[in-house]
Amino acid sequence: MHPLEETTADYAMAVSRHRDQKLVSILNKGLLKLHASGVLNDLHANWFGPTLEVGRESPLVPILMGAVGLATLGLGLLVLGIYLERQVARKTAELTEANKLLSHEQQKLAKMLLNAARALGVTIEIKDFNTGNHSQRVARVAYVLGKKMGLREKELFTLYLGALMHDIGKVGVSDAILAKAEVLSAEEYRQMRFHPEIGDSILRNVEGYDEVREIVLYHHERWDGESHLRYPAYPGWRCGSAIPLGARIVAVADTFDAITSDRPYRAAQTVSEALAIIKACRGTQFDPAVVDAAVLSADDLRQALVNPDDSDYYKNMEKNIGL
Ligand SMILES: [Fe+2]
Repeated sequence: MHPLEETTADYAMAVSRHRDQKLVSILNKGLLKLHASGVLNDLHANWFGPTLEVGRESPLVPILMGAVGLATLGLGLLVLGIYLERQVARKTAELTEANKLLSHEQQKLAKMLLNAARALGVTIEIKDFNTGNHSQRVARVAYVLGKKMGLREKELFTLYLGALMHDIGKVGVSDAILAKAEVLSAEEYRQMRFHPEIGDSILRNVEGYDEVREIVLYHHERWDGESHLRYPAYPGWRCGSAIPLGARIVAVADTFDAITSDRPYRAAQTVSEALAIIKACRGTQFDPAVVDAAVLSADDLRQALVNPDDSDYYKNMEKNIGL
């Protein structure tokens, strides 16, 4: 016990022995007041000297306090770090989930576009019955050439859609002209020459199809710019690199498939024969770079002619496009 407490107790005992209860009460109250105000401590210190070095800090105290502060700060930072780490992990998980949903929606949209393009391609094949599955084969051949030329996934997808629909404008050409096995007359060629333009006007109503539409519109342009005056089937609106690359690629793919397919007036030719014919038109009818890509892709082009329903290659190609 603190000596002051003992002193206070002794004093209280002494006072309590006094018979005058009133005086005892007054003294007790005074003593309590002195004790409460701290004056009693000062009196005791003056009379007996300090019994406890209250207020004098040990030199270890600031060190201990500093250590405690640092430990508290460290603990706080650790807790904050854990909290932030958990927040970042939660946000990352949320973003990953959102990306997955977005990617899924994009894939769904891409698949819808592809199916719509297939449906339009099939429409013209029903009308132009000599060319069964022509648009799908042209799309696969164009994809092979585009990939060889280093096109990116989005460009390949646009190319693929454009190739599927390249002849959609033939819905505006009479069945008699489409079915004719013999060489067309000048008037029939004139009508046939309009099909890229008709295709363009059909797709003009579809928002977001501008690049696809350009492929359809220019797929019969010649690299050397020779127009319909010399070559009656070609519109002759653009030449060289002014022709969109997708259209230049589809021009080669279209011819490649025409040569390697059976027609009423001739049997299908081999891939090597088709490439030799295309090579002969390098720099005149066709873009030299596309012809070079075709020559370097002979094996892949043979694969591209395989029935799409049975071909793993076809499924892989869709996967590569991002569907
Ligand atoms: Fe065409």
